[in-house]
Amino acid sequence: MCYAIPGKIEKIEKNTVTVDYFGEKRKALNELTEINVGDYIYAQGGFVVSKVSSSEAESILALWKETFFHLQEVDLRLSRLNLGDNNADKRLLEILDKASQSKELGRDELLYLLELKDPAGLELFFKTANFLRQKYHKNSCCVHGIIEISNYCLRACRYCGISSHNKELQRYRMTKKEILESAQVAVQDYGFKSLVLQSGEDPGYSADELADIIKEIKERFPALIFVSFGEIGIEGLQKLYKAGARGLLMRFESSNPRIYEEVHPGQKLESRLIHLQQAYKMGYMIITGGLIGMPGQTSRDILNDIFLAKELHAEMFSFGPFIPHPNTPFAVLPSAQVEEVIKVLAVARVIDNAQAKILVTTALETLSREAAKKGLLAGANSLMLNVTPLAYRKFYSIYPNRAHQSEDIAVQIEATISLLRSLGRAPTDLETI
Ligand code: 5AD
Repeated sequence: MCYAIPGKIEKIEKNTVTVDYFGEKRKALNELTEINVGDYIYAQGGFVVSKVSSSEAESILALWKETFFHLQEVDLRLSRLNLGDNNADKRLLEILDKASQSKELGRDELLYLLELKDPAGLELFFKTANFLRQKYHKNSCCVHGIIEISNYCLRACRYCGISSHNKELQRYRMTKKEILESAQVAVQDYGFKSLVLQSGEDPGYSADELADIIKEIKERFPALIFVSFGEIGIEGLQKLYKAGARGLLMRFESSNPRIYEEVHPGQKLESRLIHLQQAYKMGYMIITGGLIGMPGQTSRDILNDIFLAKELHAEMFSFGPFIPHPNTPFAVLPSAQVEEVIKVLAVARVIDNAQAKILVTTALETLSREAAKKGLLAGANSLMLNVTPLAYRKFYSIYPNRAHQSEDIAVQIEATISLLRSLGRAPTDLETI
């Protein structure tokens, strides 16, 4: 979104460019051909997204200059870790000490963290995860915009409010024109550099139609595009990649095939994993993860989920709480607890210090107003804002009362910028050299 700063191209080697941000160098992949050393660009997720004129870039950079270093200081201050001098449990201190030195933890140690309940111990654990986030990712934070293009879905996932179980839901499918208008608003009016296009598994769009939409967005409103249309098949994924999509958002929901098959009648975990593996091979950046709080799910399952996300080369982990929807078979089940989800984010950061970004999901924010801040202070470094037209947003009810359901984009952006600034986070989500 507008929380992005232009960088200056320092070096071009084949399709990799070195970008300078106030003396800090980052690398990005360039798929724009007409780019030269000295040009200013916006990059996102490791990709050059668009060129910016020198005059525009220089005036934006003048505004950012002091803020950039100030934010780094704030972040550094908030992520200091002191494991000495406190009365926490000895085993916990040993584990956290090991984690803080990036030593690999054993499964029993990771399970100990996932099952931790003591508030003071949890605070120390979250601080350790935040320390690791700062150490490897610095204060960068990326913010994607999501457009929910259709709530039609032919699947019968037992937890999901837009599944075929929900007979009362008013269904919508945005037209190509509406999708392009939403992309235009997000990119041109609000400055988003990265968009996620999402829908239920909706046979109402063919892969060719989706590809056509993506191609036109790429041509007219340059942004990094993630697709999230469920299992559209390998050929479908290829078509969308060719059209310009570079990311796939697809959770595997649960790494336990028994749970997976129980909550997704008629579907196999295997098929989902094949999509994720093939997409990675095609060059897609992967965002994946699972649902926390499904019936029968144990800490061991959740730990396996985190390992599976890593194994699938997740560029970003997306783990969020299950929240019951009244018109689904899971209506009477309890929501996952905020703390349980934050623990998952923190364990993910301990397992994967350096590679993956970690998302604070809207579902987590739905459970608690403070959740975004808590998550960002426990290892997470990524957010998604909803840029679906307000008229449709309430119908994308995967669970009830979603956070930001009726908030204008401008309002979400203002709140997000103010949160990120208070935590010292800056919008440079590029690989540090
Ligand atoms: N609670 C929380 N998340 C849900 N999703 C679907 N239904 C629910 C629910 N009841 C999530 C799934 C899916 C994503 C788009 O929404 O994990 O991957």
